[in-house]
Amino acid sequence: MNWDPKLLESWDKEYFWHPFTQMKVYREEENLIFERGEGVYLYDIYGRKFIDAISSLWCNVHGHNHPKLNQALIEQLKKVAHTTTLGSSNVPATLLAKRLVDIAPKGLTKVFYSEDGAEAVEIAIKLAYQFWRNKGEKRRVFITLQEAYHGDTLGAVSLGGIDLFHGTYRDLLFETIKLPSPYMFCKERYGKLCEECKKELLSLLEKILQSRDDIVAVSLEAGIQAAAGMLPFPKGFLRGVRELTKKYGVLMIVDEVATGFGRTGRMFYCEQEEVSPDFMCLGKGITGGYLPLAVTLTTDEVFNAFLGEFGELKHFYHGHTYTGNNLACAVALANLEVFEEERTLEKLKPKIEHLTKRLEEFYELPHVGDVRQLGFMVGIELIKDKKTGEKFPYGERTGFKVACKCRERGVFLRPLGDVMVLMMPLVIGFEEMDTVLDTLKEVIKSLS
Ligand SMILES: Cc1ncc(COP(=O)(O)O)c(C=O)c1O
Repeated sequence: MNWDPKLLESWDKEYFWHPFTQMKVYREEENLIFERGEGVYLYDIYGRKFIDAISSLWCNVHGHNHPKLNQALIEQLKKVAHTTTLGSSNVPATLLAKRLVDIAPKGLTKVFYSEDGAEAVEIAIKLAYQFWRNKGEKRRVFITLQEAYHGDTLGAVSLGGIDLFHGTYRDLLFETIKLPSPYMFCKERYGKLCEECKKELLSLLEKILQSRDDIVAVSLEAGIQAAAGMLPFPKGFLRGVRELTKKYGVLMIVDEVATGFGRTGRMFYCEQEEVSPDFMCLGKGITGGYLPLAVTLTTDEVFNAFLGEFGELKHFYHGHTYTGNNLACAVALANLEVFEEERTLEKLKPKIEHLTKRLEEFYELPHVGDVRQLGFMVGIELIKDKKTGEKFPYGERTGFKVACKCRERGVFLRPLGDVMVLMMPLVIGFEEMDTVLDTLKEVIKSLS
């Protein structure tokens, strides 16, 4: 493949409409085009080197260009790249389904494939809705949280609660009941996450569940609302929700798209609170950041409600051309093998401790309003005035400017507004971690 860097830059601006990007501004600025990666490093078309401190949008796990993951793809490519799973099967998708059930929270025994996190959620929504219909009950309302983010397809947007992303589409969405975001709820009351707020929120949920008989499911992210700016839940909140959904016979959807595959220190956050939901959505890290793949895990109870004779029309009319793609499943299997062979989670523990310690330094900075962390997921909130709590005006793009300065110093970041997100590949070394933290700290310090 031959190309000229300058021409590539101009074609990128001319032909490529980028996601979540104001293209007018993008076209006025310098564009960053990556060409290759190695370990935690990315290289652009001019050979400039960056630490990938956001794991290429929260999905890379073991580093780029990992020999074992590459090999798994090559081996599968020699066999076949894709075969349909609509009514037939393939080897890697079958092996992966078994492997995922082995490592998932107990009770999650069935795997439905898709390609992206949003779709994994979409599938959970449709399965939950149809579950009740197949049982002869017409339920239609979902309970979800403000500040939730489950992806950009319309079902996932219906469950979402971030006005900036979702407000435009309100007229197209189905009805939901939105509980307050636990982090926001606590912050407004006592300024920090606490037991008191957790109890209040859970009793709010209980009141709703007591008074309605049309609730399909309660859906929420696992332990942290990542896309809203890394807003953690009080510990035990997820478990509390699980207890209530069981008590009132309502389904529970847990979205582990961002938290799954080690980001919180365990393979899945659900493990930390010993929660086994009715649906668990996974994506991002499932292929180690190599290929688009997602899954919705569910229970025998849900699966069995879809069984029937052909003419009964109980089955799930959903699937895509690339559902259960052979290459993606092959690399996902290798991803799980690398977790074991490289003892990734074991090695992550001291890194999380180190990160926690080093993050203390950020609290001191005059333009840092809050530092939030769950395992290896971090949000550092920039603020104009620490005393008054005044934020930087949205249009000033302070977070983006900080990210650009970090980029100039070899650290690739993408903030969420003015929240600087750190989501480093789990394989990152201590030295590289310190480079990321030192760089970000210096740049934030230089804010006036
Ligand atoms: C919790 C959560 N769910 C779903 C999604 C959507 O995943 P995707 O972008 O792969 O559709 C995201 C993306 O950030 C997420 O954080």
